[in-house]
Amino acid sequence: MKTETASFRALVTGATSGIGLAVAKGLLSLGHTVFMTGRNGPVLDRLLLEANDRGWKASGLACDLSRREEVERLIDTATEVLSGRIDILVNNAGIATFGSIEETTPEDFERLIAVNLRAPYLLSRAILPIMKRQREGLIVNISSVAGLEAWAGSSLYSMTKFALRGLTGSLLAEGAPFGVKTVAICPGYVATPLVSGAPVPETEMIQPEDILRTILYLKDLSPAAVSGDIVLKRLGGL
Ligand SMILES: NC(=O)c1ccc[n+]([C@@H]2O[C@H](COP(=O)([O-])OP(=O)(O)OC[C@H]3O[C@@H](n4cnc5c(N)ncnc54)[C@H](OP(=O)(O)O)[C@@H]3O)[C@@H](O)[C@H]2O)c1
Repeated sequence: MKTETASFRALVTGATSGIGLAVAKGLLSLGHTVFMTGRNGPVLDRLLLEANDRGWKASGLACDLSRREEVERLIDTATEVLSGRIDILVNNAGIATFGSIEETTPEDFERLIAVNLRAPYLLSRAILPIMKRQREGLIVNISSVAGLEAWAGSSLYSMTKFALRGLTGSLLAEGAPFGVKTVAICPGYVATPLVSGAPVPETEMIQPEDILRTILYLKDLSPAAVSGDIVLKRLGGL
């Protein structure tokens, strides 16, 4: 049985913090090539310097995914730097806002749709054809338990995370004849800055490295095997 995955090239969004950072660092430490993107340029530059000091194969570009033209620049740059081959796309970057519907604003709506939904759509639209040509590839969309269930105060966030699972289903169906897999990962509380105010101690949260492990598991499956959406629950709660 094959237990070791050959070296691959990945594009990870939201790689400057939390889950994306853990995924990018983990893949790099295993010898894979990672194109990292985040909004915070100085943080990204520092991470790239550190990675290169360790001899890791890291590259990247700071990009505000809420701006369509910046997403397009990211796609052009990443495909060029990765020489037109992308084995894994991790649509991870995301933002959250919680509050009753009266407390939300149309501006919040636009912002969440742009970052959590339009950016993964644009990236997938550009990268699925590359993977189809390769006849291999994995797109991982980081949804949430809030993409499976909605609560009072979660309207905008849940809308985007439910919709991301809709995108996932179509990408999976369209990529399947070409050997390209798409899976949504739906975690509960993960210990990252995004949920620093949550009513759950960090030590009782899912760890960002658990998402890395899940992606490695998906990548290691044989070509005909794919998982449905993966719900990663916190032991004893959401
Ligand atoms: N933490 C949780 O409990 C949890 C649970 C379920 C799902 N998720 C999902 O997991 C994903 C990652 O979240 P996290 O917890 O790791 O959050 P995080 O620590 O706040 O990291 C979010 C990442 O997204 C990037 N980002 C945000 N807005 C951006 C923009 N406009 N343009 C480009 N990049 C942008 C951030 O970049 P900068 O830092 O450079 O601005 C950062 O790298 C999100 O989609 C989130 O919804 C999280």
